[in-house]
Amino acid sequence: MIIDKITLAQSEKRFLAQLINSLAGIRQVALIGTKSKKGNENLAVFNSLIHLGAHPALFGLISRPASAERHTLGNIRETESYTVNFLDKKYAEKVHQTSARYPENISEFTEVSLTPEYFQDCFAPFVKEAEIKIEMKLQQILNLEINNTNLIIGSIERIYLPEERLLADGFVNPRNLLLSCGLDAYFTGKFAEKLAYAKP
Ligand SMILES: Cc1cc2nc3c(=O)[nH]c(=O)nc-3n(C[C@H](O)[C@H](O)[C@H](O)COP(=O)(O)O)c2cc1C
Repeated sequence: MIIDKITLAQSEKRFLAQLINSLAGIRQVALIGTKSKKGNENLAVFNSLIHLGAHPALFGLISRPASAERHTLGNIRETESYTVNFLDKKYAEKVHQTSARYPENISEFTEVSLTPEYFQDCFAPFVKEAEIKIEMKLQQILNLEINNTNLIIGSIERIYLPEERLLADGFVNPRNLLLSCGLDAYFTGKFAEKLAYAKP
């Protein structure tokens, strides 16, 4: 089967979104915790988290075109604070439900029964149930003109994780963390191999 650019352009919108999104493959799911200046807590599922670099430690996140209200993007712009939370596979349904478009004054934490938790001076809430929690500080938002998405770049300020997940070489074990593919399919990973640094 061959699907060309013209066929793609003529495809039904949701079908096309699912096709291209799932084609990009399985990615780890992050719940992004934020709070507006007014004090409204917000939680949303994102699977576009990418490692941008380790010196300094930076993550990127793609926010969809600002055609609809984007609470996560708005809160991050306003407060420069957000949290990245990785959850166990058993939370798939709750995680998925955070993608529903709740009004600004409704907290997804309450709607899906996950618990907001605050550490130190971080303005944004963490997810208490998460296995790994990361405090992020906004560094830059890049508008990608080609499709009006926004690349949110943040620095890692603090990492909270169970000690047994961190190996001696710095590797963080993602065992049982929730993964996703496309817009509605959830996966769990199975360990294959861990190899030595490749040399020519
Ligand atoms: C599995 C999954 C992954 C998603 N990943 C992203 C993403 O990377 N970027 C994005 O902008 N929206 C993503 N969404 C959609 C958001 O979760 C959804 O638009 C949500 O309503 C945003 O909430 P907010 O307005 O409170 O920020 C994803 C949805 C699902 C179900």
